[in-house]
Amino acid sequence: MVFKFTALDADIGQVQVIDHYDIGEAKVYITSTGQYLIKEPPLSQEEYEFYGTITEHLMNSLPFIDKLETDEEKIHHLETHIWKEAQDTGQVEKVSKFFDRLRYYIIREVIGYGIFDVLIHDDDVEEVLAERFDRNVGVIHRRHSEAHILDTNIVIGKSDEMNSYVSRLMQKTGKSVNISKPIMDGTTKAKHRITVTFSNEVSLNGPTVTIRKFPSKPYTITHLLQFGTISKIMAAYIWVLIDAKAFGLIVGETGSGKTTLINSLMTMANPRWRILTIEETPELQIPHKRVVSLKTRTSPLIRSDNDIGIMELIKASLRMRPDFVIVGEVRGEEANEMFQSAATGHGGLSSIHGSDIKSALTRLAAEPINIKPSQQMLLWFAAHSTRLKGSDGKAIRRIRSLTEINPTEDGIAGTDLFSYDRRTDSFGLDDVEELIKKSKRLNHVAELLGVELVSDMQKRIQLLDQCLEKKAYDIPQVFEILKKYYSFVD
Ligand SMILES: Nc1ncnc2c1ncn2[C@@H]1O[C@H](COP(=O)(O)OP(=O)(O)O)[C@@H](O)[C@H]1O
Ligand SMILES: [Mg+2]
Repeated sequence: MVFKFTALDADIGQVQVIDHYDIGEAKVYITSTGQYLIKEPPLSQEEYEFYGTITEHLMNSLPFIDKLETDEEKIHHLETHIWKEAQDTGQVEKVSKFFDRLRYYIIREVIGYGIFDVLIHDDDVEEVLAERFDRNVGVIHRRHSEAHILDTNIVIGKSDEMNSYVSRLMQKTGKSVNISKPIMDGTTKAKHRITVTFSNEVSLNGPTVTIRKFPSKPYTITHLLQFGTISKIMAAYIWVLIDAKAFGLIVGETGSGKTTLINSLMTMANPRWRILTIEETPELQIPHKRVVSLKTRTSPLIRSDNDIGIMELIKASLRMRPDFVIVGEVRGEEANEMFQSAATGHGGLSSIHGSDIKSALTRLAAEPINIKPSQQMLLWFAAHSTRLKGSDGKAIRRIRSLTEINPTEDGIAGTDLFSYDRRTDSFGLDDVEELIKKSKRLNHVAELLGVELVSDMQKRIQLLDQCLEKKAYDIPQVFEILKKYYSFVD
């Protein structure tokens, strides 16, 4: 059988279940001992054989299914195929009895993620982690993070099966992994970021998988306010700076929420702007009507003259009339290009790996990146995003500090406008007038935009408040409320 599969099962009689929910036809149980157990609907031997015949007959139409644009279209095609097969073999009545289960496995195997399908469809799963083919796959859960990595009841079992699984996963990102290119990184259409190693070329214990998942609907500024990641006055401050086409930097460690912060801050940016994004691995989801998304091109085997890197894309972006440029992540010398491009007048936002703002800025100023003081002055603000353990032991994300950067005679100086206080779970400064006193950039912005600061900031805070009150979590809802700020959009 081509699309053979093993249904996941779990004995929940012996464990203490602390949470459970359905993902499609499957059930998920979270236990008190840190397990994530999946129970999928069983198929009888006869049903399994019927499934085998159906999927066998589907082989010819796979290229056709591949070309269909949306999952809905693909699913529709599969459903039609099931009923046609049932009719051709005179088994309509029998098939109607187990159609839902049959459909579940056909989708899981033919267009889905196979044994990882539930994990991919569960929005509460934040990361999927597989270190060894013979051990349980792990997950990081958005709501049950107190036990850190939960153990699932998925074990791939054999090294070669895991290798073919790893290849299949990479296909979802349009890339391929093999002996000569044993480490690959890509993003799926749904923007899940998949990193795999193939065979035991570079990973001692055989193939590995790491998947970073984003929620199916990207977080907006409303989510971040609701979670307590950022306060309203902080969001309003960044919003007004973005409006003035400021250049800002998000600093933080891997998984701290940098990309998410950029995405959600952009939900506040002028809806009529033309936004340019530049990334190595596409993750950003910018909601604006006019977005040019650029990504680097690398050749699969060796470095080649045809490669197009971040630096070249930044150069090219200058000729594309952006209002705002986002460079997903900067690591090395391309930061220089980014600072230079910031000098040309459009706004910009980028993220950089680091444990705090100061050390990130020091790194930018030192060899080999070497950003000169005259360029450092172009930076307006930096935010430090962190993942912390909350009082209940669960993971929380907070902006640890929001620092304004101002030019001085011999370089730059940072003023921490907001600093997170773990004891009170708040960010200090919460008064518009006090903020205006403390911030030089705001006063400059007021001149640029021709606004009266106090009332302008209050208006922004009010609109952010409305987002929370109206539970505007979807991007169109957020846009609908925040665009009231811009008088030219009605
Ligand atoms: N403020 C937040 N609140 C809750 N979850 C978050 C928050 N920011 C990020 N996440 C989740 O954490 C994971 C990592 O976030 P990401 O933005 O990719 O981090 P980074 O870019 O720093 O590596 C994602 O699954 C994301 O949905
Ligand atoms: Mg990121």
